[in-house]
Amino acid sequence: MVANSFSKKVTNWYESHGRHDLQWRKAITPYRIWISEIMLQQTQVVTVKPYFKKFIKRYPTLKSIRDASEDEILTLWSGLGFYKRARNIFQTKEIIHSEYKGRFPKTFDEIIKLPGIGRSTAGAIMSIAHRIPTPILDGNVKRILQRYFSDNKNIFSEKELWNLSLSVSDAANSNLYTQGIMDIGATVCSIHNPECYRCPLSTNCSSAFLKIKAIKNKKVTDLKSIKMELSLFEADQEILLRKIDDQEIWRGLWSLPYTNEYSSKSRANKIQQINHRLSHRILEIEINLKKVSKKFIPKNNFQYQWVKVGDVDNIALPKPIEKIIRNHGKENFL
Ligand code: ADE
Repeated sequence: MVANSFSKKVTNWYESHGRHDLQWRKAITPYRIWISEIMLQQTQVVTVKPYFKKFIKRYPTLKSIRDASEDEILTLWSGLGFYKRARNIFQTKEIIHSEYKGRFPKTFDEIIKLPGIGRSTAGAIMSIAHRIPTPILDGNVKRILQRYFSDNKNIFSEKELWNLSLSVSDAANSNLYTQGIMDIGATVCSIHNPECYRCPLSTNCSSAFLKIKAIKNKKVTDLKSIKMELSLFEADQEILLRKIDDQEIWRGLWSLPYTNEYSSKSRANKIQQINHRLSHRILEIEINLKKVSKKFIPKNNFQYQWVKVGDVDNIALPKPIEKIIRNHGKENFL
């Protein structure tokens, strides 16, 4: 009963007010929903839009991504952050081609076993792509359920929230319901300014029209910082890159070599210092310029390549590193 009226209101609202223009909502396939859900796990819709477009243009189907290398997938992901997601996409498509004959699995139990897919992402794929009612519980849905079922005196546990999500997600059109609840969370029931007057759930919501305080808002100054000293080797207007395979942040991408990998600090010259915010850390990146007369490849176990600044588009680089290289190119080579 609760489920029916709750989900019906959400579904009706979605039909008239949902974000139907999002590209992954057009021509729905399990593959497209999977890619979009992975991109949306830690990234906002506005940021995801151009990446999704580019990704789908290059790999429109599961079949087309079959032979893609991890490097090629990472290159398309370059700048989106949380690169483990791209590596998980590579692994998942390998599994789908080797174990599922190239077809996206159909059951929740199979989907949740794939790399990078947790209960909520599996729920989104099941309900949106396969149209089998399955609960999701991302940050937006948690907030809606918390507000709807309690006036905030009683803070629900994760388990209670999953049970509540299950109790309301038994929709006749699970694809519409699930996208609707996502959209209400993102566009109506926002953290700081819930717009209850245009919410389809406000008549039965325990918190409607109350002034709601955000529970937590971590400030930038609370974050720990990590110092990263990198060297920008330059010869013949080309720059030396090194593949990152020895650290968690940015693993699989190309970056600049660490300054402390080289004994000589001579002729080093600090040219840039930038701070880059990760989700839970601040990276303080310091760049030392080292002009060398001849291109060389350091003798150690890492992979290196020399590139022209104009060619960085085709290489999977972390956003701040790409910016550093472009700035350097603009100031010195143009
Ligand atoms: N956030 C997570 N999944 C989403 C989707 N399919 N549409 C919009 N926002 C989302």
